Amino acid sequence: MRIDVVTIFPEYLDALRLSLIGRAREQELLDLQVHDLRDFTHDRHRTVDDTPYGGGPGMVMRPEPWGEALDHVQAAGRTALAGVSGEDATPHLLVPSPSGVPFTQQLARELAAEPWLAFACGRYEGIDERVLDDAAQRWRVTPVSLGDYVLNGGEVAVLAVVEAVARLLPGVIGNAQSLVEESHEDGLLEYPVYTKPASWRGLDVPAVLLSGHHGAIARWRRDERVRRTARRRPDLAAALDDAALDDADRRVLADQQADPGSARFLPEPPAVAD
Ligand code: ADE
Repeated sequence: MRIDVVTIFPEYLDALRLSLIGRAREQELLDLQVHDLRDFTHDRHRTVDDTPYGGGPGMVMRPEPWGEALDHVQAAGRTALAGVSGEDATPHLLVPSPSGVPFTQQLARELAAEPWLAFACGRYEGIDERVLDDAAQRWRVTPVSLGDYVLNGGEVAVLAVVEAVARLLPGVIGNAQSLVEESHEDGLLEYPVYTKPASWRGLDVPAVLLSGHHGAIARWRRDERVRRTARRRPDLAAALDDAALDDADRRVLADQQADPGSARFLPEPPAVAD
């Protein structure tokens, strides 16, 4: 997969040299190129922003450097992808913004199947809307939001989206099974996990996990996933497909919904007998 990122803070993306994503780049599973928007300015101060038409607070990113930067992305990407995709290949442009569509595991899966993504990192009050309109005449353009809160710019969102997408590429994660059994893959959150020691600060690992009884362990984990989802994410629990639930799932769900507790705090630990 090819990914191009345009930003005024290229160093922000240095974190994508680390860990699994760094290794995927070394193995050429991922060709990630970062471009400095200021390289596409032509004034002494390398200006990228100006005051908003219509008034209001803050600054807006000017369209001209963006237009040139995205033209460069198109030319550079086509050269790099020559032979892989057609001569008229275009990237899918993702524009991080709190006004975008929610970024979800489902969207991550869809993006992981594409050959070429590009990201336009806005700062200040955002990018002149004509940049998106112009790009949309040639490319697919999707504004994406990480969640209902406001970041200072798109860079942190790009780190999150690239990591979520790149780990789904074949060969990036050694154990493909770990991709299957994780939160959001089937609408349920992940079960709690434990390792040694079996007892720590007076807290014991649930006995069933030490029992060696695989059926009982699988059932306990499933129950914990259902319970956690109902407690922390009632929106996901309400959207569960009833056909995908068994009788035990339904019982756990009903019990948890009858006594929901606080989603924001873990349940109180049981009282310790003297
Ligand atoms: N840029 C600023 N806030 C953002 C958010 N919530 N998601 C994605 N990009 C952003």
